[in-house]
Amino acid sequence: MIKYLGSKRTLLPFIGAIASSSGAETAVDLFTGTTRVAQEFKRRGLKVLASDISTYSEILAQTYIVADGATENIDEIKAKLTYLQNLPGKSGYFTKTFCVDSRYFQPKNGEKVDAIRDELELNFRDDPHFPILLTSLMLGADRVDSTTGVQMAYLKQWAARAHNDLELRMPELISGSGSAVRGDALEVVPTFETADLFYMDPPYNQHRYFTNYHIWETLVRWDEPESYGIAMKRIDSRDEGTKSVFNKKREMPVAFKKVIEQAKGKMVVVSYNNESWVDASDISQALYDAGHEAVSLMEFDYKRYVGAQIGIFNPNGEKVGKVGALRNKELVFVAGDASAVEDASKAVASLRPPTLF
Ligand SMILES: C[S@@+](CC[C@H](N)C(=O)[O-])C[C@H]1O[C@@H](n2cnc3c(N)ncnc32)[C@H](O)[C@@H]1O
Repeated sequence: MIKYLGSKRTLLPFIGAIASSSGAETAVDLFTGTTRVAQEFKRRGLKVLASDISTYSEILAQTYIVADGATENIDEIKAKLTYLQNLPGKSGYFTKTFCVDSRYFQPKNGEKVDAIRDELELNFRDDPHFPILLTSLMLGADRVDSTTGVQMAYLKQWAARAHNDLELRMPELISGSGSAVRGDALEVVPTFETADLFYMDPPYNQHRYFTNYHIWETLVRWDEPESYGIAMKRIDSRDEGTKSVFNKKREMPVAFKKVIEQAKGKMVVVSYNNESWVDASDISQALYDAGHEAVSLMEFDYKRYVGAQIGIFNPNGEKVGKVGALRNKELVFVAGDASAVEDASKAVASLRPPTLF
């Protein structure tokens, strides 16, 4: 999977356990990003809707969530990947922008991207495997980039992996069905049907995904935008239309509460970062206001499991019980029927560190 800020990779066993304990059959993964959480739900047999505002996330969702690994013709996809892999490299917009005017990739790999992406545009646009082939290109490019994981800068010295040759590999498809919706959370959430489980993982600060991952936006759109600055960001990064309210300090808390209010989920699970612009008690209150019977807050450490339930909120949104130092912790709210929330806490508590990390 691509390197991604805020990816919930380490939380997957826990979020997965919450999903399984709830007996959910349908789920929404809002702000799906890499689609990792949606993938975990799908692997556990849930029918998932994955949604995000980014174009690259939509392509990932079409690959991992919409495509059914049980019915796709894997040999046919592999044959297409082999054909694309063998195209001779050619220098184009991508090479000039990201390998000559900046140093995100070695020119040999930029040329490969130009050749493959042009061919995808010309001859595979209507191919049912287009998203899978494009995902493969994104994953291949990610493995040979020269960044620390965000595209706001490239490394002064080439990353060792950047010297490798870009390789297209078959993405690991998952059996089952699902859907992908691209759009602003505030616009798409009201259109969703009720799901058994509604997970959300919004951005919590000023760092924009549109600029942090501008190369993936360009790779997917293939629109050759004018770019600016050392990072060669897309010129439309400056447009209001590409800015998310979730990155605006004054607007984010209101928008977040609105999404919670509109999220139609029997159980709602919210990933939370305590360095965010919203107080934990406000989130808990918003969950109660949305009609949930119980709300609990779980804490996770990147290295070890710390404790399932560090905070529990009474229906007035007041914290009952002690909450310790929360720095560098991953926090997750679980809201729903009291018994379901309790089952979720037990399911998380039953997981043991050695098998998890
Ligand atoms: C913290 S990341 C989610 C990470 C994801 N859970 C994962 O594991 O990969 C937040 C996501 O919110 C998306 N986003 C930002 N503003 C949005 C908006 N207004 N509507 C929908 N998605 C938005 C970003 O593109 C980003 O993928």
